[in-house]
Amino acid sequence: MGTDHKKVFSFAEVSSHNNPKDCWVIVNAKVYNVTNFLTDHPGGEEVLLAHVGKDASEEFEDAGHGSVARLMLDEFYVGEIDQSSTMPTKKAHIATPKQPRDNEEKSPDNITNLLRLLVPVGVCVVAVVGIHLYT
Ligand code: HEM
Repeated sequence: MGTDHKKVFSFAEVSSHNNPKDCWVIVNAKVYNVTNFLTDHPGGEEVLLAHVGKDASEEFEDAGHGSVARLMLDEFYVGEIDQSSTMPTKKAHIATPKQPRDNEEKSPDNITNLLRLLVPVGVCVVAVVGIHLYT
């Protein structure tokens, strides 16, 4: 009854608020809607936009925010992050493109790589045969 004002969001839900018109960030497991603060942020809107829909805890601490900034957080508080959701730890949520690597393996570039290996091997074979012929 008493806690119905406290909303819990999954990481996926926070991630969907990821643009300048709807910008949420996570700081220390709490979710903040900083949309109206973007242009007022003393550190610039770019840094906030760079962390929309993501966990900005580390960056928030690294920026050396003082008590004023910490008090301001309350103003933008919208809820808690569901720790059991797919909340990534630290920077693990930065996507690493795996797809192109798979494609590379199937691409004709592989043939070029094979040729690069075969040419020196061929040269060695010719050299060995030559040495045998002349000795
Ligand atoms: C999420 C809510 C945030 C609030 C309410 C907030 C608030 C503030 C405030 C009030 C300041 C002025 C200095 C101070 O009082 O500490 C400030 C400075 C700064 N903030 Fe934030 N900030 C937030 C998030 C972030 C994030 C996520 C980053 C970085 C990724 C960031 C980077 C900075 C930087 C670099 C400064 C220093 C600007 C300077 O001194 O030139 N802030 N912020």
